[in-house]
Amino acid sequence: MTPVRGALLLLLLLAPACVAAQDLTLRDRGHDVGTLSLARMQSEIGERIIEVHEPHDPSSVRYAGFRLDALLDAVYGADWRNRGELLVSCEDGYQPAIPVADLLRFEAWLVHRRADDAAFRLHNVRQGETVDLGPFYLVWNNLDAPELQQEGAAAWPYQVVALDLIEFSDRFPRMAPPTDAAAEVRQGFLAFRKYCMSCHTINGEGGAKAVELNYPVSVTEYFDEHWLRRWIDAPRSMRYDTSMPPLVYDGQDRPAMIDAIVAYLKVMATRKQAPAVQEN
Ligand code: HEC
Repeated sequence: MTPVRGALLLLLLLAPACVAAQDLTLRDRGHDVGTLSLARMQSEIGERIIEVHEPHDPSSVRYAGFRLDALLDAVYGADWRNRGELLVSCEDGYQPAIPVADLLRFEAWLVHRRADDAAFRLHNVRQGETVDLGPFYLVWNNLDAPELQQEGAAAWPYQVVALDLIEFSDRFPRMAPPTDAAAEVRQGFLAFRKYCMSCHTINGEGGAKAVELNYPVSVTEYFDEHWLRRWIDAPRSMRYDTSMPPLVYDGQDRPAMIDAIVAYLKVMATRKQAPAVQEN
């Protein structure tokens, strides 16, 4: 598949050397394809108001910004709908990968201010800190999709500076378990991708907000399994001031999900690889 087919519909300024504070960097499978300024989004996509149930600090908040599907259409053309995941990079190192399937199923927005013009920041209750949200914050229309309200804040990245349309396997080959791994391990891998890799790395791949969990010594080698389960479930029951949030998933099969994550981590302990040297 060619990374960027035809002309980008919104012609992007191909000058990464002079990225302004409110420019969003766009990539396709790791390659820069340009930047998009806030002014350009306002003129080409149109700014609107969205009200959401804010998962970081439970309350309803009205934000101003852009429908993400319209923005992706403008940048990548309709082809993004057939792609794998949208990797979102944030200034603080947080780097969630959002499945394109979720973007098709639910309505995501990229917002840049509060509609009432109050400061564009919030109190992240789970991590116990007040954070700036700009330049961009990815939110979901969860008033129309109450099932999203069970999911916590994992897919609500703030301080967004770049979007990259990726295929998971291109970007994270060292994080995947063997293809013949047991079903539980594969489920644990999916859960890890969804709930853990935005902050942690495995063999150097993932988010840079928290520690590497596999190389050179896996957490499963120095944490007793019982304590590891408890850590994932309730970190503050072990380190009272830790900033790691508990697993945000609240479904009935939460204990099975924690077991699956541990099973995945144990398999990865047998597949250690030194982190690759960063290209940039
Ligand atoms: C929002 C970011 C974030 C997410 C998401 C997150 N963690 Fe963490 N994690 C941290 C931070 C920060 C620490 C260090 C905490 C400390 O030492 O008090 C940590 C520490 C850990 C440790 C202990 C490592 C050590 O050697 O002390 C383990 C194990 C761990 N996380 C596993 C997980 C798993 C499994 C998930 C997914 C269910 C997860 N984390 C999700 C931020 C995160």
